[in-house]
Amino acid sequence: MTAQLIDGNALAKSIRAEVAQRAQALKARGVTPGLAVILVGEDPASQVYVKHKVTDSQEAGLHSVLERHPADMTEAALLDRIRALNADPAIHGILVQLPLPKHMNAAKVIETISPAKDVDGFHVASAGALMIGQPGFVPCTPYGCMKMLESIGYDLRGKNAVVIGRSNIVGKPMAMLLLQKNATVTVCHSATADLAAHTRQADVVVAAVGKRNVLTADMVKPGAVVIDVGMNRNDEGKLCGDVDFAGVREVAGWITPVPGGVGPMTRAMLLVNTMEAAERAAR
Ligand code: GUN
Repeated sequence: MTAQLIDGNALAKSIRAEVAQRAQALKARGVTPGLAVILVGEDPASQVYVKHKVTDSQEAGLHSVLERHPADMTEAALLDRIRALNADPAIHGILVQLPLPKHMNAAKVIETISPAKDVDGFHVASAGALMIGQPGFVPCTPYGCMKMLESIGYDLRGKNAVVIGRSNIVGKPMAMLLLQKNATVTVCHSATADLAAHTRQADVVVAAVGKRNVLTADMVKPGAVVIDVGMNRNDEGKLCGDVDFAGVREVAGWITPVPGGVGPMTRAMLLVNTMEAAERAAR
């Protein structure tokens, strides 16, 4: 059996179209959704990411501003900028691109963003809200993974879900979202004694480690849903995920490709969060 693909590009496109409609409706009420993206320094990958975030939001009809600051900007100056954006009624979402230069305390920077504008969902208030099931912003990558599961009509109730990776940005919020949908959730990580023993029992596997071939065909239960969050380069320099795609697709029931899977969904969910922030502010 060859797995069916979950097409992140197609799903992201339809989500962007929905956001564009919501943006139009809000504009008709005199409110233009606004996103501020802050980049400190010259990290090459970050420059590409922020450019995408800004063009995506502009294409959906959002007002989007990119603030670039030099790598030697002081932390105090960055905090001042964030406070100014917190108070700016034209801005509904604030995103500070990570990583920040080493002289800055990223936690302190993120805590300075108003939770009402935390469209990355990285603030402790957002993480806490997710933990106890209150409304708040969900980090874009796990949010996108949930939309992919929803798109295939997958009912998580009573299913075994294994999350590989325990980052604050993906693994931990992913586990919370799966739990909210009544899955039985196991979080595996670098100290897990026997990863394959867990994944072989899993109806759903989310791989979010940042290492190639973390999940191979022999580790997957036939028919399982496999979501690949990884973004790595193979020996030929080609983009690949954490999953051995060629092998696993022969065993799994559903699988997300890399590229064209979770990546475009992460980008689309930032627009959804920004739209949500603007709608809440206009209520
Ligand atoms: N750096 C890598 N991914 C992300 C992300 O999703 N948000 C932010 N702010 N920085 C990142």
